[in-house]
Amino acid sequence: MEAMIDDLVRIVGDTGVLTAADDVSAYVTDCRNYYKGTALCVVRPRSVEEVASVVACCVARSVPIQPQGGNTSLCGGSVPFAGGRGVVLSLSRMRRIREVDAANNSITVEAGCVLAEVQRAAVDAGRFYPVSLGAEGICQIGGNIATNAGGTGVLRYGNTRENVLGLEVVLPDATIWHGLRSLRKNNTGFDLKHLFIGSEGLLGIITAATLKLHPLNTRHIAVWLAPVSLDAALELLNLLQSSLGAQLSAFELMNAAHMQNVLALTPGLQTPVNADCPWHVLAELGDDAVDDGLRSSIEGVLQTALSGGLLTDAAVSANETQRAAMWHIRHSVTEATQKAGRGVPHDIAVPVSKVPEFVRRVSPILEQKFAGMRIVIVAHLGDGNLHFLPLFDFDTWDAFPDPQTVIDEMHRITYAVAAELGGTFSAEHGIGQYLLAEMRQYKSEVELNMMRSIKNALDPRGLFNPAKVLP
Ligand code: FAD
Ligand code: LAC
Ligand code: ZN
Repeated sequence: MEAMIDDLVRIVGDTGVLTAADDVSAYVTDCRNYYKGTALCVVRPRSVEEVASVVACCVARSVPIQPQGGNTSLCGGSVPFAGGRGVVLSLSRMRRIREVDAANNSITVEAGCVLAEVQRAAVDAGRFYPVSLGAEGICQIGGNIATNAGGTGVLRYGNTRENVLGLEVVLPDATIWHGLRSLRKNNTGFDLKHLFIGSEGLLGIITAATLKLHPLNTRHIAVWLAPVSLDAALELLNLLQSSLGAQLSAFELMNAAHMQNVLALTPGLQTPVNADCPWHVLAELGDDAVDDGLRSSIEGVLQTALSGGLLTDAAVSANETQRAAMWHIRHSVTEATQKAGRGVPHDIAVPVSKVPEFVRRVSPILEQKFAGMRIVIVAHLGDGNLHFLPLFDFDTWDAFPDPQTVIDEMHRITYAVAAELGGTFSAEHGIGQYLLAEMRQYKSEVELNMMRSIKNALDPRGLFNPAKVLP
């Protein structure tokens, strides 16, 4: 393999290839430390041509390729398997903003651009890129596209898929697809970009994308709500949507167990309302009006909700600092649960109207079966997407003779109820290596065979992100 490393160095330069175990370690370990793989090296090309040459070099030797962006995957999708002898292809040196076309409301960026950088570039041009998630300071546009990332703005702006206009992709045969179109309409055969959006690195390397921009809201108001119940939270969602329409961009639900974790992480933290309330909602509203009409509209809706008995308390952000503090509480979920113990993540979605039934059915079964566990719920409620996280303290977890049986049993119960309610076992995080058994169980043979046919057509030797997604 030394000859291959020499060839890779010739393509990307010697600083572009990492082989020392200490340097490679961060690229083969996932962000929660649940998965640790192995790789021959990490290669970091700087251009689409270099990516194509790297792909040609690896494929000629039948060496597997692990595409990697910011490595924030929550399903082990971005790291190779233990025992793997492939190459991690990191996009981290492809970070150029190639073009901002404000008049066309579009931006063209390289795949390694960090999401937050793209959001900033949009604002600098007086526009808005709406995909937003807790990992936005680390995750990359290529990774967002490869996972069809959701996040907190889906209610108003859609998933990443709805915000991609064109792609540049290096295919497994090392050819480059120059698909960076910035059109809203283009019915010229199959819309191939959609194959790569959500493909989790199985079909090619996304090297650049043209993204849709939106008008920039000048006013943002965050509202913290304490609904009396989960059903009341849904009623509040409907009330806000019917009263304020498109001004509502996020409706995020949290339970008291989440609030307790966050408080433990940051002692003395000021919570907007009493942290012991059973349910909390963070809603975000925005417009570009010059007057403060939005604030008075919100206050009117909250009055209606309070007098209708839907709420016990509410707080409206008075300034950017308060708004950021509210979002900080919401976004602390991954860090806070990591510190508190070992969670068993479920990223399910059901029709929005079925969320209360899902929680009412699953929680008691798990609580009865697994003593000493608490369930943390953080949800993009407006999308029917729940991060449903039974959490054990470390001692309890370590005492399980076979923790995998706990994970399997929880998955079996939780996903069965989600499926009965017309839902899914993976809403926004993807499949990676975490949910292969569920793919086999819940996807029909027809769906799996179509996916396998597409995979075989583009990557007949199965070298791109092998043994992930497709069982
Ligand atoms: P990686 O983790 O590096 O890769 C993810 C997958 O994409 C892998 O299969 C990889 O092979 C493939 N891939 C990466 N780059 C490319 C490329 N250029 N070409 C082809 N394939 C590629 N996700 C959500 O959807 N919503 C959330 O709200 C959300 N919140 C999060 C909060 C935190 C704190 C964390 C840690 C994660 C969160 N995630 C969320 C999950 C994760 O951030 C997203 O899936 C993100 O889109 C992954 O981007 P990445 O650049 O880190 O990709
Ligand atoms: C979030 C991640 C876990 O919504 O998707 O915080
Ligand atoms: Zn999420």
